[in-house]
Parts: sequence; C-alpha cells; structure tokens
Amino acid sequence: MVAAVRVHKAGGPEVLTYEDVSVPDPGPGQVKVRNHACGVNFIDTYFRMGMYPSPVGMPFISGNEGAGEVIAVGQGVTDIKVGDRVGYVAGLGSYAAERLLPADRAVKLPANISYEQAAAMMLKGLTAQYLLRRTYKVSKGDNLLIHAAAGGVGLIACQWANVLGANVIGTVGSKEKADLAKKNGAHHVILYRDEDFVARVKELTGGKLCEVVYDGVGKATFPASLDCIKPLGMFVSFGSASGQIEAFNINILQTKGSLFATRPTLNHYAAKREDLLKAAAELFDVVASGKVKIPVNQKYPLKDAQQAHRDLEGRATTGSSILLP
Ligand SMILES: NC(=O)c1ccc[n+]([C@@H]2O[C@H](COP(=O)([O-])OP(=O)(O)OC[C@H]3O[C@@H](n4cnc5c(N)ncnc54)[C@H](OP(=O)(O)O)[C@@H]3O)[C@@H](O)[C@H]2O)c1
Repeated sequence: MVAAVRVHKAGGPEVLTYEDVSVPDPGPGQVKVRNHACGVNFIDTYFRMGMYPSPVGMPFISGNEGAGEVIAVGQGVTDIKVGDRVGYVAGLGSYAAERLLPADRAVKLPANISYEQAAAMMLKGLTAQYLLRRTYKVSKGDNLLIHAAAGGVGLIACQWANVLGANVIGTVGSKEKADLAKKNGAHHVILYRDEDFVARVKELTGGKLCEVVYDGVGKATFPASLDCIKPLGMFVSFGSASGQIEAFNINILQTKGSLFATRPTLNHYAAKREDLLKAAAELFDVVASGKVKIPVNQKYPLKDAQQAHRDLEGRATTGSSILLP
C-alpha cells in the first residue's frame, strides 16, 4: 500500500482524501513510477469539483503531472527501463507515492532537470511551449497579452515569450504578483482587479493592440480580452480559472476585427509521442539554458493537498506548486 489523495465525491478541497491505496504491477505498455514530486494544476480543481467528469469514475486519484523513478515496466515496453528518471503529464493518478503510467507518456529527464522542476513544468511548461510555439507562433516584436501572468503557466510563458522577442504584457491580481511577473519577463504589468485592462493595453501598445491574447482566466476577462486584439489577431482561451466563458455568438469575432479564436488543450498537442518528445526537448533546452526558470514557489507534503487546492483557488499562489509524497 502507498499513500495517495483520492476523491470519492465531487466537491471543494475537503473532498481530497489522504489514504492508502494499492498499486498493481504494470500491465502491457505501462510503467510503474515512484513519484518524487507531483505537480498541482488548476485542472485538478476542475476534476475535483466535477466540472470535468472523471474518466475512471469514483473514487479517483487526483493529479495529472509528476516526476519520479521507474520501478517496474510492463510487457512490451522497450524504450523505458527500471531506474530511469522520468517526468510526465498523464491521466488522473499523480497525487500518490506510486502510480501506473502508459509508457508512451513517460519522458526521460536530462540529468540537469530535477524531479521537483520536472513535476512543476511537465504540464505547465509544455502548455507554454505549445501556446507560444504552435497555437500562435510568437515572433520578435509581437504584442502579447498573458492573463494571470504570475501563475504557474503565466510565469513560464512570460519568460519564454520574452526570450522570443515579444513585447509581453501581463495581467495580475496584486502588486506583489506584478513585481514577480516583471522579474520573469513581462515588460508591462496591469493590475486587472483595479485597472481597465483594455484601456491599458491600448495605451501600452500605442493603439496597435495585440497579435494574440492568451487567456487562462475565462469568464472574468471575456469578452474584454477580444478588445485587446488587433484585426486578424488570435484569441487563445486555454483555461477557466474564474469560471467557464458562456456561450457566445460567433459574429462577435467579425465585429471585433475578423479575429481567430481557439480553445486548445495540451492533450491534443501532445497526443502523439513524437510531438510530446519534441516539445519536451524544447522545454528542457530552454530551461537548461537558464533563459526560462521554473519557479517552484509552493511545496506541500502530499497529505496537505487540500491546502494546496485552497491556496491555488484562493489566488494565493505564484508560479508552480508541488506535492511531496
Ligand atoms: N488548455 C491547456 O492545455 C491548459 C494547460 C494548463 C493550464 N491550463 C489553464 O491555465 C490556467 C492557469 O493554470 P495554472 O495551473 O498555471 O494556475 P495559476 O495561473 O497558477 O492559477 C490561476 C490564477 O488565475 C488567476 N485568477 C483570476 N481569476 C480567478 C478566480 N476567480 N479564481 C482563481 N484564480 C483566478 C489568479 O491569478 P491573479 O491573482 O493574478 O489574478 C490565479 O493565481 C488555468 O485556467 C488552467 O486551467 C490550460
């Protein structure tokens, strides 16, 4: 038996239950990983509260991201072996001391990437990678707006966008977060709880507006985000930290400037193993070069997963959070 955090019924952070579970031997195509660190993500709260239904029913082990050592491999697994250090984004099950994983989701870690860094960036860093390099391919001189710039995805995306030569504008919920976003690549920061962010974006871009808005906040920033985008620009709605955007008339994209809008998810961008490995290699390179740092600003014992969720949903965190089994 190993320690894990399970959800038996949908609800608030209090439904995260720390208990022992047994983890079977890996089946064909699977590996068993002893987690050294588990990533905490906003998506974990969507599953916990039932906004995203659990694909494995109830109870389920929370969490989609982690890093650790491979302690057993199933039949037919050839490219991952016992003792390998791996990081992963995978289906539910990472808030646990050990878990099973489809071998094609395990990515071998270079020696210079620690387990804690990996657990803090496999989901958030790979998200920043596809948002900036694939969904909209950022070029030098582009104006970008990144909402929740001091968050997990936000701090990685701001640094990376800065490396790519963009003019990075971030929104944040407090002055402390503004300072942090500025230290992590944002050229300009808007306190969107106090300031009109559309007016500030107009001012900061000299009326040119942005090529792209990356919006993980959702309900609270829609449709104002569309007013920050120049004609033919792109609205990337990649999350719902404040709640889901309600149904809207697609004609709004025409009236706001023939905009493109997409609602992407990492699952699709990393569905093929070759895409996962290519994106991970790019992420590891930019981190190893020191150009993008992975701020692991909250660490909790695994048993304190409830507190980790309270802090994340309460806007009390910055950068990445991890649980330590
Ligand atoms: N589509 C994908 O592939 C993908 C992958 C990873 C993450 N995501 C999404 O990206 C977003 C960021 O994820 P993350 O894990 O890095 O979280 P995070 O940004 O560290 O935390 C969420 C942040 O959102 C802001 N926020 C604004 N309104 C909020 C509200 N009403 N309640 C709570 N937070 C609010 C807060 O920052 P301020 O205080 O500065 O406002 C908060 O710190 C989430 O929406 C997540 O679902 C999507």
